[in-house]
Amino acid sequence: MSKEDYANWVAMDRKQLHPTYHPKSHADPLVIERGEGVWLYTTDGQVILDGMAGLWNVNAGYGREELAQAAFDQMKKLAFTSNFSGMTNLPSILLADKLSGFAYEGLNTTHFTSGGSESNDSAFKTARYYWKRKGKPGKFKVIARKGAYHGVSLYATFATGLEKYHTMFGPAVEGFIHIPAPNPYRFEGEMKSGETVGQAAARALEEAILREDADTIAAFIAEPVMGVGGVIVPPDDYFPLVRQICTRHDILFIADEVITGFGRTGEWFALKHWNVKPDILSFAKAITSGYAPLGGIQISDAIRETVETAAESEAYMHGFTYSGHAMACAVGLKNLELMELASFPERARTLGKRLLEGLKSLKEFPFVGDVRGLGLLCGVEIVSNKETKLADPAMATRIFKAAQSRGLRTRPLGNTLAFSPPLIITEEEVDEIVKRLGAAMDSVTA
Ligand SMILES: Cc1ncc(COP(=O)(O)O)c(C=O)c1O
Repeated sequence: MSKEDYANWVAMDRKQLHPTYHPKSHADPLVIERGEGVWLYTTDGQVILDGMAGLWNVNAGYGREELAQAAFDQMKKLAFTSNFSGMTNLPSILLADKLSGFAYEGLNTTHFTSGGSESNDSAFKTARYYWKRKGKPGKFKVIARKGAYHGVSLYATFATGLEKYHTMFGPAVEGFIHIPAPNPYRFEGEMKSGETVGQAAARALEEAILREDADTIAAFIAEPVMGVGGVIVPPDDYFPLVRQICTRHDILFIADEVITGFGRTGEWFALKHWNVKPDILSFAKAITSGYAPLGGIQISDAIRETVETAAESEAYMHGFTYSGHAMACAVGLKNLELMELASFPERARTLGKRLLEGLKSLKEFPFVGDVRGLGLLCGVEIVSNKETKLADPAMATRIFKAAQSRGLRTRPLGNTLAFSPPLIITEEEVDEIVKRLGAAMDSVTA
């Protein structure tokens, strides 16, 4: 494609307002034409190893004919029908049945959405619904963590603990409280002597509950591994303590597994690493590997019971046109089959170990402050000084650009470069990520 053609596409593209848009970050966008496996092909002939699996979601890789066929077959038969109370369809029945108890024992009911933000809003509303049904309508607040990303619908925006998502969209929605995240590299909370980061971060939760009054709090929400906030892997003692605190104070625990779900971290769902179970699970993204927009929440049997026994005047009046979309659910079912056949959690465990070891070899660069990960979800934190750990987002952006010009897609999240490749990635392709990133780092050093 000529330079002129590219310029034309980019000019036409100005008719779109892109997500998280600023003219500076969209001056010379990649125009992607097709994908195959872990590889993306642009209209101007670039071939890029997608180290992010799109937006942490294309777990089965690009160009999967089985998924295209599943969509085609279902669309021919029935693409869509209302799934509102009084009607249902076969793919949504089959997928809900398949998912029943799949992630966590006791989470047997699914409410479908079209994506992660809708899932989290559904989780917040369902928590409110539950407490109203329990005769405690004063429980409506949600505790989240600083650095959390829960999406951009209005509620999810203010559950998100990243300032830049709030700046132009205030005033803030009432009732979201943010506490420090269990970040082992740079914990922002206060630590008492003898405490671990996990204990201090869990104590911050209990203190917030006591300060706000448990009778006003509906839920605590957390990503098992924080994604957009910089790929923060929590210490092992954190989530077991969180679970105990939520139970002790009668607060629902919402696990936002929009990124960590469906094998990414080496377990089907990430809280399994710590033998912990949530009351509500949010999922999206990899349920279809990005081949169709689909998400959902799963709720505990105790929550389901409050819906089943409600008076008509207290019906669960929530749901979206596309909740239980027939084609999206058919794709989800086929994708689950592919993920099970290829043992995705096991792949994420072994290939993730290889990726993490490779990335750790880059610690010899003076600006690589920390390298961390769980399964095929890794982060490389860039600092200007390893002693003071001063964050260097400008250097992270330079490395990101140098990597992109070498055919490697990562994502700069503040001063952390994220890696979350498709789970079908091969050992050679994992090594290629490390090689290209190393070359990019060499180039900015020179
Ligand atoms: C942890 C988490 N929750 C929620 C969302 C929002 O999902 P969506 O963009 O599908 O609304 C994301 C998106 O990246 C996410 O990473």
